Amino acid sequence: MSRDSAFCVSLPGVVLSSGPPSLILDSDMSWFLVTLQADAGCVHVLSDALLQTGAVSVEVTDAYAGTPREHALFAEPGESDTLPWELVNVRALYDEGADIAARVAAALRAANLDPEHGFDVERVADRDWVRATQSQFRPLQLSSRLWVVPTWHAPPDPGAINLIIDPGLAFGTGTHPTTRLCLNWLDANLRGGETVLDYGCGSGILAIAAVKLGAVRAVGVDIEPAALLAARHNAMQNQVDVRFEGAHESVSSRYDIVLANILASPLQLLAPLLACAVRSGGQIVLSGILEHQADEVGNAYREWFDMNITQRDESWVLLAGIKRYPPQERL
Ligand SMILES: C[S@@+](CC[C@H](N)C(=O)[O-])C[C@H]1O[C@@H](n2cnc3c(N)ncnc32)[C@H](O)[C@@H]1O
Repeated sequence: MSRDSAFCVSLPGVVLSSGPPSLILDSDMSWFLVTLQADAGCVHVLSDALLQTGAVSVEVTDAYAGTPREHALFAEPGESDTLPWELVNVRALYDEGADIAARVAAALRAANLDPEHGFDVERVADRDWVRATQSQFRPLQLSSRLWVVPTWHAPPDPGAINLIIDPGLAFGTGTHPTTRLCLNWLDANLRGGETVLDYGCGSGILAIAAVKLGAVRAVGVDIEPAALLAARHNAMQNQVDVRFEGAHESVSSRYDIVLANILASPLQLLAPLLACAVRSGGQIVLSGILEHQADEVGNAYREWFDMNITQRDESWVLLAGIKRYPPQERL
């Protein structure tokens, strides 16, 4: 999962055209947003064609989003490239208005669609996009003592445990239910002195929280270089000593607690590796799991752990388990 924040600004009253328009556009305009609906089957070709006609970005969403016919996608590894959607909304952003009608018609033709296919064009005023994105991420109180505070805000409660986070290009602002579930688990369960592995660390938020909540040592691992950069930067901002490193095929140390907020299918594939990273009697904490996936993910870990669903947040669940001792260690 990445921190995509697709934006689209509709300015009231400035829909310039509907249908194949003949556009006369002011020269001081900054961005132009073309919106059209299409069958999902043609969307790869159409997106490429729009980009070839000068669009700086193309966004594709389920036309039924927000309705009972919506089909959510979580980009699980191994999922096919074919979109399961029937009808899509396509939004292409151009940085100049000249010849948009001709350019969109050319793209439609390249995708074997009717060049007269209707579309809308909106003028999008330029803004401070960094500030606009930042304004969506505000201080978040998770418990009486724990806050997540973006770097560009002052902590509302300076005496609290404040996780100072700039997610950069990584996932992990604390606002997603899967991260919240892990933070709440750490807040409720860390006693102090534990060693913690945060597998799929993203912004590093969980490893940093673990240390601030009393862990004696935390290590974060990710496959994304951008996540490791963000996580190291966040550790510095929080003045905590956490090691962040790339993912390996094996984990050399054993930890009291291993947290992994990834997705159901990688969690199942990683079960032997993550199980091996937990000491006997230690705990595994798994997030990124939808309610209907809880059984299959839990089953992948039952060979080593006594697993339970401990918390729910929206349609997400957190699974936690205690690693059983091998028979000879039980004596
Ligand atoms: C949903 S984010 C979680 C980020 C953060 N731990 C949190 O709870 O908000 C999942 C992270 O796992 C990483 N990831 C995905 N598959 C992985 C794998 N096989 N090994 C290590 N990291 C992985 C992704 O790059 C991403 O940063």
